[in-house]
Formats: sequence, C-alpha cells, structure tokens
Amino acid sequence: MALLRTDQLVKRFGGLTAVDHLDLEVSEGEICGLIGPNGSGKTTVLNVITGIYKDDGGKVLFDGKEIQGLMPHTVCEMGIARTFQNIRILGSQTVYDNVRLGLHIQTKADLFNIIFNTRKVKNENQRIKKEIEEALDFVGMLQYKDELIKNLPYGKQKVLEIARAIVARPKLLLLDEPAAGLNTAETENLMELVRSISQRGISILLIEHEMAFVEGLTDKVYVINYGRKIAEGTFNEIKNDPGVIEAYLGTRGDE
Ligand SMILES: Nc1ncnc2c1ncn2[C@@H]1O[C@H](COP(=O)(O)OP(=O)(O)O)[C@@H](O)[C@H]1O
Ligand SMILES: [Mg+2]
Repeated sequence: MALLRTDQLVKRFGGLTAVDHLDLEVSEGEICGLIGPNGSGKTTVLNVITGIYKDDGGKVLFDGKEIQGLMPHTVCEMGIARTFQNIRILGSQTVYDNVRLGLHIQTKADLFNIIFNTRKVKNENQRIKKEIEEALDFVGMLQYKDELIKNLPYGKQKVLEIARAIVARPKLLLLDEPAAGLNTAETENLMELVRSISQRGISILLIEHEMAFVEGLTDKVYVINYGRKIAEGTFNEIKNDPGVIEAYLGTRGDE
C-alpha cells in the first residue's frame, strides 16, 4: 500500500486548472521526485495535500485514510511535514525556538502543574529540549542553537526549515525546492541530509529544479506540466522522454 496517494486530484484557480486529475503515489521508504516547468502546479499539489488549499475534486489518501479537505494542523498531526519554497522564518527568533515550533506543543498543561513547576513539567521540558537538540544535531546545526535566524546564511536557514519539519518525526516529508539558492557545496551537503532523513524511515516527496539533485536522490519521478502528469518512472527513464524535453524546452523562455 502506498503511504501517500492522490487519486484524480484537481485544483482550480478561477478558470485555471492548476492540478488536473493527478494520480501519484509515494511508497513507504521512498524518495519520490515531482518535477515540471515553472508554473506547472508542483507547489499547488503540496498545498492541496497539506490542506492549505481545498481541492476541487479527487482524493488524497495517507496511510489508507482520506485526508483531502482536512485542516493543515490535522494533516500535520497525522504525520505529514513540509518545507516551503519561499522561506518562512521569523528573523528575530532563535534557531532553537524555531525548531520548537515544529513540535506543535500545545500549552494545555494544567495551571497547577505550571504554577508549581512540578516534576511533570520539568520532565516534559527536558524531553522537549532533548528532541530539539537531537534534531539540530542531526542536521548539523547544534552549534547555532542560540543564534538569531537573521544572522544565519541563507543555506543554513534552509537547513533549519528541515530541522523544524522533522523534529516531530513525521512519516512523510514534503520538500519544495530545498536546493534553490544553495551553492554547490551546500547542495551536496543537503543531498546527504536528505539521504539520512530517508534512512530514518521518513518517506519523501521532493520538488526540485536542480536535476543532479533529483537524479542523485530519487527512486521514482513524476513529471507534470499544466497540472497534468506527462511522465513517470526512474530519473533515467524520464530524462530522455520526448514529452518531458518538449515541456522543459517549451517554457525555457519563462525561467
Ligand atoms: N493562490 C493562487 N491563486 C491563483 N493562482 C495560483 C495560486 N497559486 C498558484 N497559482 C497558479 O497555479 C499555477 C501553478 O502554480 P504553482 O503550483 O506555484 O507552480 P510550480 O510550483 O510548479 O511553479 C500557476 O499558473 C500559478 O500562477
Ligand atoms: Mg513552486
């Protein structure tokens, strides 16, 4: 059974069909690529899966359950985490506090426990601290724990987003152009990081323009254009597909 499956998924914006009856599947343990020219609907697919946009037809199945139309926080609690194409971070926040957001901690501990700072609260805070530090260590950013985000180089900000996405140990991670704006060394490090996330048992759906990245990481690739699937297969299978080449060449002028 697929971990994630979209079944004839549709999303329209007015007269524009941004996602057009799309079927895709991410199996457990897989790194799956989603590529296509600019404006082909890739980010919209993630936005519908994560409940940011409501679909206009079709289904999204996660772990066998229909999740289309659920609220983003519910989707997140079910075990789907993501990063964004355009970085969304608060510059005057510390790295540590930003990763803490990824744990979605609800401060519903009762007043008694908070006021008297009971052992229960202390233990809980210790556990949270351990999880945040473990995630930062895992992505190689523990030494930046107390830095303000605005003082980090862009490449580190992108890695921070990944730490925040995985700290709650999701089953599926959706990455939207994680390598955009990174230099060669940063891109290579990021590839290693994505591999080690996959080795932790987290399945991955990856949108990326950097083809070496897609080639080096993915088990399977879906190619979309105008919201429609035009090819699927391994990177080697799709790279010489005439329809895929045509789609990329046809829009080269807009890139
Ligand atoms: N919130 C929105 N409102 C209207 N149109 C949108 C919105 N988001 C995306 N689109 C349109 O949907 C199409 C697909 O966009 P997008 O999913 O961002 O493409 P990609 O991520 O592949 O570059 C584009 O034509 C884009 O302009
Ligand atoms: Mg996009």
